[in-house]
Amino acid sequence: MDKKSELKKLEEEMAGDINLPLRGSNLVFGEGSPDCEVLFIGEAPGMNEDRERRPFVGRAGQLLRKHIRTLGWKEEDVYITNIVKRRPPENRDPLPEEIESYKPYLARQIEIIAPKIIIPLGRFSMNYFLPFAKITRDQGKLFSAKGGSASGGKATNYYILPMLHPAAALRGNEMMNTFAETFAKLPKALEKVKSGNFDESVASPQISQKQKRPEDVQAKLF
Ligand code: URA
Repeated sequence: MDKKSELKKLEEEMAGDINLPLRGSNLVFGEGSPDCEVLFIGEAPGMNEDRERRPFVGRAGQLLRKHIRTLGWKEEDVYITNIVKRRPPENRDPLPEEIESYKPYLARQIEIIAPKIIIPLGRFSMNYFLPFAKITRDQGKLFSAKGGSASGGKATNYYILPMLHPAAALRGNEMMNTFAETFAKLPKALEKVKSGNFDESVASPQISQKQKRPEDVQAKLF
């Protein structure tokens, strides 16, 4: 089965899963190219996303999409989704049990797409991959993380470049500048990941030594 059909099947499976929370709102599965190299993962859909059943279409989404185009990329060539795929009421933060419930589906979605680099937007998404990372400290750094296999196949290695959530960037100039600076690093990070040409293979200087897990390793790029 090709990637597009596999994603369609996964979406249908999710739509029919009566055990998933937040079923009062629409399923926002994600959109873009299944053959993308770059996968953006946000937190959860908001009001606009719920209405249109598309991820990142509100104000924060416009900012994200503008930056993608600024790199000379097309929105259709990347893939955009969220950890939690239905809108929490009043746009509240997703609950740990909601993230947990949607996790197996996200894992399978990532496995199907198999991107070169994953960009978690904001701390919820970042902590899905890097449980001990801190968004203000670690955004803009390139990490290597192991993804457990969702379907019993081989575990995959991912490169993760966390960014501020675009909604955070909208809150002030400083955050906006940081968001833009990190975005501008993306093509170079992608090239390095694709070529395997790192200045230094792996290092983990930023993660708390006490809590460090082997998979929280930073590939020193910048
Ligand atoms: N914020 C998110 O995290 N995801 C969306 O799809 C929209 C806003």
